[in-house]
Amino acid sequence: MPRGPVSVLLYHPDAAADYARLVRAPRDRIRLHVASTREEAELHLAEAEVLYTWGFPGELLPRAKRLRWVQIMGAGVDRFLTAPLPPGVKLTRAPGVFGPWMAQYALGWLLWVTQRMEAVRQAQQARRWAPFNADRLHGRTLGILGAGSIGRAIARAARAFGMRVTGVTRSGRRVAGVDRVYGRGALRAFLREADWVVVVLPLTPETRGIIGEPELRAMKPSAWLVNIGRGALVEEAALIRALQERWIAGAILDVFPKEPLPPEHPLWALPNVVVTPHIAGPSTPEEIAPIFNANLRRYLADRRLLGLVDRRRGY
Ligand code: GLV
Repeated sequence: MPRGPVSVLLYHPDAAADYARLVRAPRDRIRLHVASTREEAELHLAEAEVLYTWGFPGELLPRAKRLRWVQIMGAGVDRFLTAPLPPGVKLTRAPGVFGPWMAQYALGWLLWVTQRMEAVRQAQQARRWAPFNADRLHGRTLGILGAGSIGRAIARAARAFGMRVTGVTRSGRRVAGVDRVYGRGALRAFLREADWVVVVLPLTPETRGIIGEPELRAMKPSAWLVNIGRGALVEEAALIRALQERWIAGAILDVFPKEPLPPEHPLWALPNVVVTPHIAGPSTPEEIAPIFNANLRRYLADRRLLGLVDRRRGY
């Protein structure tokens, strides 16, 4: 039966217009509402059937009574799993986009450590000729906690430097490009042998706090932790102690339980910590738009959506 245009609410706090410009749909099949504030979103919430969004205020969701599909512009869907999203609503994310960005971030910071980039620049500023031997990545073990599609992109980049790559998944089954895969039950064995641990797990009730004191104590004192998943995957108080007392060598942190990281937070000042403001896996309209447009065509044709999230599993 022919029906009227599908009401699509596009919400993004800073880049709504950029996303809106790239929406493509058959003529007259959608009515697009663009919002960058809560008030603008509220105007069209009741009629929205599709929500295309990043950073949506979750508490508004119960008022979206006609909602059937949410397309996330980002990688992580945790805020939609804890928000009161009615059970029948489909949730899709943007697969394939974030791996290259996050591989670049992770390897970039590994190189910052091994090449001592900060010390080199300081020596230069002081006009001091100070040779040193860089640490080697070749032959070292990079452990990826959460060896999904993003983790596999990081594995490829690490192998280009001759690193050995290990991973943890729920099943512990083989993953292409990963030398050894551990199941979640073998987390400590995995941590004990890694020189670098990159955390890219989704945040779910099962993974919250998965890295706590026993896990940090299992790591090598020479190892670095890179968290680009979610802050709450790591118990923050234990991490601060681990860094202060040098159970581990250092941490590169892009995500925090509370963001923005408050100015008085102790992590800012630790010498063996790099704090970055949640930038490891950026969403860009140019990359996300083709995914949304393809899914929108599928939605309008009643076909299976791509990048569907298993809401029970949490990713
Ligand atoms: C960012 O963290 C995202 O989930 O896309």
